[in-house]
Amino acid sequence: MDFYEVIRTRRSIRSYKPDPIPDDVLMRVLDAARIAPSGRNLQPWKFIVVRDAELKRRLAIACHGQMFIAEAPVVIVACGYNIHGNRGEYMGDLSMLVDVSIAFTHLILAARAEGLGTCWIGSFSNEEVKRILGIPEDVNVVAITPLGYPRGKSFREPGPRKSLQEIVSFDKY
Ligand SMILES: Cc1cc2nc3c(=O)[nH]c(=O)nc-3n(C[C@H](O)[C@H](O)[C@H](O)COP(=O)(O)O)c2cc1C
Repeated sequence: MDFYEVIRTRRSIRSYKPDPIPDDVLMRVLDAARIAPSGRNLQPWKFIVVRDAELKRRLAIACHGQMFIAEAPVVIVACGYNIHGNRGEYMGDLSMLVDVSIAFTHLILAARAEGLGTCWIGSFSNEEVKRILGIPEDVNVVAITPLGYPRGKSFREPGPRKSLQEIVSFDKY
């Protein structure tokens, strides 16, 4: 599939078939995250693949009751390590959020290319998800997505977006 078609037709999918994801497909999607760039190539991430039905149900509740998450055969939880030490005087410990978000974007776009739906979930209780999955104290949850084949015809052109004129300027702000 053409790269621009992948990014134009990726949508947040909130309804999933129970069909399992073949292992080779799942591994390709995870590998897309693995090869993402990161500051100083520190790769401060870990991706937890959740397939257990009860764990998925508890995760959906920890995502403030977004129960569609548990419909998907797989839920991916992206975690980031806090990198201590100055990285370019700008974001400090928060820089891992940039790295994990880049890798997660790789994963989401690779999923689309494989015909799999995702929905970036940012509304969750970090502490609750950490408790459910046994995530260590110094690691935080950055993003979660259900992963599975969409129910119905779900891949389509983007919803409303600002125009290029609104968001791009040349030479000065
Ligand atoms: C950082 C972030 C957090 C988000 N959190 C949620 C969420 O908790 N629940 C949800 O259903 N969608 C969530 N979304 C999906 C957005 O609502 C969606 O991307 C946006 O409305 C554009 O729609 P599209 O993804 O179909 O193009 C999130 C997206 C991002 C990037």
